[in-house]
Amino acid sequence: MKFFLDSAILSEIETVYKAGICDGITMNPSLVKKAVDEAKAKGEKMSLETYLKKALKIAKGTPVSLEVTELNAKGMIEQGKKLFKKFNPVAKNVYIKIPINPSFPNEKEKEFDGLIAIKTLRKAKIPVNCTLIFTPEQALAAAKAGANFVSPFAGRIDDLLRTESKMKFEKTDYFPSGGIEDDGDMLNDNGIVSGIDLISECVQIFRNYGIKSEVLAASLRNARQVRECALEGADIATMPFGVFKELFSHKLTESGIVQFDKDTPKEFGKLV
Ligand code: G3P
Repeated sequence: MKFFLDSAILSEIETVYKAGICDGITMNPSLVKKAVDEAKAKGEKMSLETYLKKALKIAKGTPVSLEVTELNAKGMIEQGKKLFKKFNPVAKNVYIKIPINPSFPNEKEKEFDGLIAIKTLRKAKIPVNCTLIFTPEQALAAAKAGANFVSPFAGRIDDLLRTESKMKFEKTDYFPSGGIEDDGDMLNDNGIVSGIDLISECVQIFRNYGIKSEVLAASLRNARQVRECALEGADIATMPFGVFKELFSHKLTESGIVQFDKDTPKEFGKLV
């Protein structure tokens, strides 16, 4: 399974690539805003364009998803093409991120716009990551339209199930992949019992039909979910920097290091 960093913060991008464990980057408007705000707070003067170009160079050889902000097919296609033209020459690694459906609640006429944008950009040979996927049917539709990556959001499904059942929780709390029973009923969103269940069903369906699009598990909040994505056969897991750190942490590793440090004979340091 490939690991992607879900962040636009340059220092985080640099660190995970230096450690040799990052296979790509995903960004969205909220993550870019977070990175820009942090850079401004530190007094950094870099323009957004320079900033993104730096990120692309660090990630050279691995995909970087840049999301459109327009909300209809025409706008997303134009913006996607312009973004690709401007940024892909930097390191030849740009994927354009398109929401499966850009319509606001109760707005019907834009329902197909995400799919039209995917189809058109793919026809123009621009790689696409389809985002904001919450059902296996959406994943299948995105794949049919030609998306290279399809991004189901696991954590937000868990949030929805907990919120609807009025459970108290922290964003990073583990949600059992097999679901949670409440008053004898399994919490579910139209049959999906957890974020990992969503990932698992997308993987299964793509396998059933030999679909080439890759399942990019997104909105992951803890290392255990990353493990479960790997067990379910997700192609890619994108995660925030904090979850990357959790991947190599354990309390016994820490106590083991403390003990080894304490036991090291003084002579050992003089050996080399
Ligand atoms: O990759 C999708 C991600 O940025 C959303 O994560 O934690 O805001 O649901 P989250």
